[in-house]
Amino acid sequence: MLKSVRVGAEGGAKPAAVVIGVFQGAKGAAGLDPAMKKLDSSGDVAKAARRSECTGAVGNLVEAFPEKNAPAARVLLVGLGKKSDFGAAALRTAIAPVAKRLAATKDKDARFELPASKLDPKAAGQIIGEAFGLLTFDKNEFKGSATTGEGWPTITLRPTKSAPAASIKRGLGLAVSCNHARRWGFTPPNIATPDWMAKEAQRIARGTDTLSVRVIRGAALVKEKMEGHINVGKASENPPCLIRLEYKPKRAKAGAKPIVLLGKTITYDTGGLSIKPSNFMAGMKGDMCGGANTLGAMHAIATVIKPNVPVVGLLVAAENSISDEAYRPDDVLTFRNGVTVEVTNTDAEGRLVLADGLCWAEAKEKPACIIDMATLTGGVITALGSTFAGLWCEDDKLRGRIEAAAATTGERTWRLPHDESYREMMKSPCADILNSNPNRKAHPIQGAAFLSYFISDSIPWCHLDIAGVADAETEMGVIAKDTPTGWGVRLLAEYVDSL
Ligand code: BES
Ligand code: MN
Ligand code: ZN
Repeated sequence: MLKSVRVGAEGGAKPAAVVIGVFQGAKGAAGLDPAMKKLDSSGDVAKAARRSECTGAVGNLVEAFPEKNAPAARVLLVGLGKKSDFGAAALRTAIAPVAKRLAATKDKDARFELPASKLDPKAAGQIIGEAFGLLTFDKNEFKGSATTGEGWPTITLRPTKSAPAASIKRGLGLAVSCNHARRWGFTPPNIATPDWMAKEAQRIARGTDTLSVRVIRGAALVKEKMEGHINVGKASENPPCLIRLEYKPKRAKAGAKPIVLLGKTITYDTGGLSIKPSNFMAGMKGDMCGGANTLGAMHAIATVIKPNVPVVGLLVAAENSISDEAYRPDDVLTFRNGVTVEVTNTDAEGRLVLADGLCWAEAKEKPACIIDMATLTGGVITALGSTFAGLWCEDDKLRGRIEAAAATTGERTWRLPHDESYREMMKSPCADILNSNPNRKAHPIQGAAFLSYFISDSIPWCHLDIAGVADAETEMGVIAKDTPTGWGVRLLAEYVDSL
């Protein structure tokens, strides 16, 4: 872990560490790129690159022990894989062990020398900034007096031609937004209530001059007929609220309709009366990651991207709890677009709050498009594990842009289908539709099919089921085990940047 990361001036005195990228050679061995020879007047670095353990495989880390004329006291050679395969994904994998090593060695500054490749230096700098920034996430926030604290080092990153200052700063800025989102997801549910999330949104907005926040709660929610949202939240003493953020560009494109980002923000999911078994309940503090990551994306948009199009963020925040006031299986709810829903399972609560969010977005925001993010189903974890988020989007243009953004940021998506047959599965004998077909077929797709009843076909819409990717079950690069990933913060920021 790192305490903080700074960007230093280019050039200057010898840094404590220099990181040199090496490609994997044809025979499996690495070699020092000819352009790097300028750093190595004694030939000691080249010698290290020829050592057998220096394979050049992605993330392979070898420390050179140069005797003289060294570019720094510590020289790390990091494998970048085959030059022909090298790109954003390989650098992201390669940089994680470097960042962790430099955090462990506590070197006070470091410089990166990457051989020329088809990866734009701006992209490289951003990836380096993001990696070091993500390492500053404080996973010890809730440790108390029974844990002895460690001191974490601060590092200064010195820019080079292959990792320029502005791009490192952009990466660090995105990591700040991402770490906010991760912290909200990490915060225990006795603290992170809907009201607490509203306060966090207000605090975030105060730090910008382009974000404003409105919180809709109580009688105002009733007036707005937020039927699903109110019902899901009504058993909890922590009342539900809709947190609406608006990013107003300083210089807006004339007549631009807003992009709407919508996040499932269930601050705790007990399952409600259809209660979860205890081994499935633990971890459900993370059921607000859709909203947390949406808020993180709004922060990134306001602080890093600063686009000239308006963006609205909607967080439907509620706690799915249990009491005599809880909504029940067999209840029928009438949504604001007139659709009636028979509740078959109170644990399929995410789609009920999102349905209201979609109706609200369409009726009140006149959106250019809507992108929702939700830890919606366990089924998407069964299908895609922690590698991809499920993506549903029938609009080719929107999907193309989301997929392009995903390729840039490494937050990977896999398309799943919408089809009339899945909408049929949601039909109810009693109301229009049910919230979950008990047969559990095509479970994550059912969720998307349910949501499709709450938005017109004419509005480009993308649904992202992030249940499998919101949390790191094992250490994933620079993301520590058992911490939220902030999945989607950078993806949505890059998407908005591409408009
Ligand atoms: N929040 C859960 C989905 C989830 C499961 C997220 C595991 C992260 C990890 C969601 O509200 C839920 O309970 N879904 C159920 C619905 C079912 C009972 C109708 C599911 O997917 O099993
Ligand atoms: Mn649930
Ligand atoms: Zn849930």
